[in-house]
Order: sequence, then C-alpha cells, then structure tokens
Amino acid sequence: MQIFHDRSLREWNTFGMKVSCSCFVEYSSVEELKELWHGLHDFPSPFLHIGRGSNILFTKDFPGTIFHSGIRFIEVMPHPEAEAAPIPDRETDEVQVEVGAGVTWDDFCGWCADRNLWGPENLSGIPGETGAAAVQNIGAYGVEAKDIIRYVKCLDCVTGSMVTFKTSECRYGYRESMFKTSAKGRYIVTSVIFALSRTSGPRLDYGHVREAVETAVAGKDGRHDAEECTCGTDRQALTPALVRDVILSVRDSKLPDPAVIGSAGSFFKNPVVPRSDYERIASIARIEHGEDFVVPHYDAGSGFIKVPAAWLIEQCGWKGHIEGNAGVYGKQPLVLTNATGNASPDEIIALENRIADSVMRKFGIALSPEVEHV
Ligand code: EPU
Repeated sequence: MQIFHDRSLREWNTFGMKVSCSCFVEYSSVEELKELWHGLHDFPSPFLHIGRGSNILFTKDFPGTIFHSGIRFIEVMPHPEAEAAPIPDRETDEVQVEVGAGVTWDDFCGWCADRNLWGPENLSGIPGETGAAAVQNIGAYGVEAKDIIRYVKCLDCVTGSMVTFKTSECRYGYRESMFKTSAKGRYIVTSVIFALSRTSGPRLDYGHVREAVETAVAGKDGRHDAEECTCGTDRQALTPALVRDVILSVRDSKLPDPAVIGSAGSFFKNPVVPRSDYERIASIARIEHGEDFVVPHYDAGSGFIKVPAAWLIEQCGWKGHIEGNAGVYGKQPLVLTNATGNASPDEIIALENRIADSVMRKFGIALSPEVEHV
C-alpha cells in the first residue's frame, strides 16, 4: 500500500487539471482495501475512489483522500460446468475471465484479442481502468461494458464485507449504473467477471465500422479491387485482433490522445428526447439546411430518440472553437479539451456552460455532462 500527502493530481486526470489532493492512497489487494476500511478514520475526509481519472473534471483541489486500486490480475475462471460434470475434451464457447479493478481497460482488450476471444474489441482504446468501466458502463461502436459483464465484485463500504452483483442487479443504462446513482459511494469495485466468446464474431453495425473492417481485411489480402471480393462476409478473416486494430485507428482519427491533448472524452451525454422534441429540432434544421435535411438520430425505444450532442454543438458553431486555454475539439465537438495544457477548471466550466446555453437557446435541449465534476 502506498500513501502520499499533498499529491498533485495532474497525472491522475486525463484533462490535465493542475489540482492536488490532501492524501492519495493506492492499495494492491482486497485485503489491503479491507485494512483501509477498518482504519478509515486515520485519513482526511471526504473520500473519493478514482480509476485513471479519465471521466473526471476536478473543479478544485480535493480536500480529502483519494483512493486508487492497484488490484491487477487477469484470470481465466474454471467453466461453471466443469466441476459438476468435467468435460475436459470439449471446448466450451464461453470463457469467463476475472479482471482486477486496477487493470488498464485497454490492456484487458489487448489480452482478449491476443487470445482470439471476442467481447471487448469494440471498446478498445477507451482510457481508464476496468473497475471504472463497470461503474460507468463505458460504451463505443455499438457495444457497452454491460454486454460482456457477468458479475461485479465489490467491497460494501457500509458492512465491510465483499458482495458480488449479477449484471442484472447493477441497474445498467446509458453511461449509468447503480454504482453512480442509487448506491453511489457505497461499493468499491474490486474485480469484474466478463463472459467472452471463442466464436461469437464481430459486431460491426455502428456507423462506418463494417466498411472500415472490410477495407482492412481487403488491404490485408490484397483484394481491394476484386469485384468478387467477399472479405466483408469472410468470417475466417475477421479476428478480434483485426477488429481491435480497426477500432483503434477509427478512434485515433476522431478523438484526441489524452497524452497529447488533455480531455475526458465525450464531455456531454447524447440527449435522449421525446419524439416531439426531435420534431422541433428537425423543423429548425429544415429551415437552415433545406426541406430534405434529416437530423442524425437513433431510435431509443418507447417513443424516445437519441440525438448526437456532437451535431447539436456543431450546429451552434462551436466545432474547433478555442476560448482562452479551453477548446472544443475540431474533429469531434463533443470533446472539450485542455487546448494549451494550461486550462483551469473554471475555463472548462465556463465553456461547458456557454455551449449548453447555446444548445438550449437554439434547440430547447438541455445537455447534461457525461464527465463527473468533483
Ligand atoms: N457528429 C457531428 N459532427 C461531428 C462528429 C459527429 O455532427 O463533428 C454527429 C454525426 O451525426 C455522427 C454522430 O454525431 O454520426 C455520432 O458521432 P460518433 O460516432 O463520433 O459518436 P458520439 O455519439 O459523438 C459516442 C460516445 C463515444 C464513443 C462514440 C463511438 C457518448 C457520450 N459518446 O460519441 O464515447 O466513442 O459514440 O461509439 O455516448 C466517451 O464516452 O468518452 C466517448 C468518446
């Protein structure tokens, strides 16, 4: 266990805010976490548990103690049927893997791709750690963490005992879980059990992912121009590693590398609005872009429509805009950036408010931040 006092958090938030905390504690096992739980009164409050700080905007110095998990292991679990009725020669499709909360999320994605296991490949390249991925229900390119999570193991901070939740008990939604809402602050995720597949194949239905994967396969086989090219349907050619590489390059082309330009990824959630709100946005857009213009949207079920916040923000003229040290990323306006490396939390918040106000004025839609303000 490592304990630091008055520690800079610059390296602990991908936005690169120059803030600090009174105390920072990294533990490396469940036993150490339990020990901390028993001796909590020795540390300055308030308490906050973070992953890599990739979805946080620190708005000021944190006056209490920040905890971080150094629980790092990836272990294939015995198949649930194996004990009751051993089937040594038959390969089952599902492989359950337990991953420590402190494992870097993308290391886990790479681990799966290296072993030809399908599951998190579309979530490759998302910054942060595995425990936070289960709290935030990270998502990208048509897949959410909840789709592959089977169980989440936690320390219950009220009772001090370990508890295991099934996915269905975690109340997952779009970038939501009970760990962020009804049970906020009560549980600390120590490990996550994922269900991976040897055979399920890729999920390519989001945006241009299928096209990008087909181009990659064609490039690999040297079959770019062949009319009869079947690369798009040739399942043999599609491996988790190939899909992962494609996703990494798509992300690379759209999102800033936090090591170069500070950001916390998407700053706002995509609003999910009643159809009547969507119709209003559509009629505003028709006035500006012509009668045939269709506002990008996705059916969210139950009469609700998801509208890309990136589009709303771009329509308000913010794309690529820089204000002082804070910016709106030129290739993806949903991402606010620490454009110069010297942005203060106040500058990011001022930009956030101005963007949200303008979207409200123009479209009557309230944007809510995806990034947690601390
Ligand atoms: N768009 C624009 N202008 C732009 C970029 C996008 O109008 O400059 C519109 C387009 O209509 C585009 C749509 O926005 O089709 C969606 O864009 P994109 O596919 O880039 O996805 P997103 O909705 O902006 C979400 C996640 C991202 C995730 C991508 C890909 C949220 C809040 N964000 O962004 O997650 O990588 O989908 O699946 O849901 C993150 O959470 O930090 C994050 C980066």
